[in-house]
Amino acid sequence: MLELAYCPYSNFPVGAAAITTQGVLVTGCNVENASYGLGLCAECGLVSDLARKGGGTLAALVVVASDGEPVAPCGRCRQLLWEHGGQTLQIMTKSGPIAFATLLPDAFGPEDLTARSTS
Ligand code: THU
Repeated sequence: MLELAYCPYSNFPVGAAAITTQGVLVTGCNVENASYGLGLCAECGLVSDLARKGGGTLAALVVVASDGEPVAPCGRCRQLLWEHGGQTLQIMTKSGPIAFATLLPDAFGPEDLTARSTS
């Protein structure tokens, strides 16, 4: 996916790939925009691919830069991914896979809305 990245502003192509608990492969790449803040991270594309392929729960994820080394998902993407993987999602880091709960402890998630909404 890295080679499909559209990143003329950062020149930092990113590719993301994940497998769901059902064995479905989903991928994404970053897609930037002349309005810089609107750029989409590779993980955004991956989550869209997940929806397009029928949804499911992410089991393992790797995000890589052009040197082939893992990239730690940015803060926004951690929140985005949490919804579709939760604490058991394994995320590849430079020192090996770690559970998502370690990367995003005390996360806010859908259960907070159901448990604490006023209606
Ligand atoms: N980027 C990602 O695609 N995922 C990340 O988790 C970190 C950053 C992209 C966003 C931008 O297009 C480029 O990398 C430089 O920040």
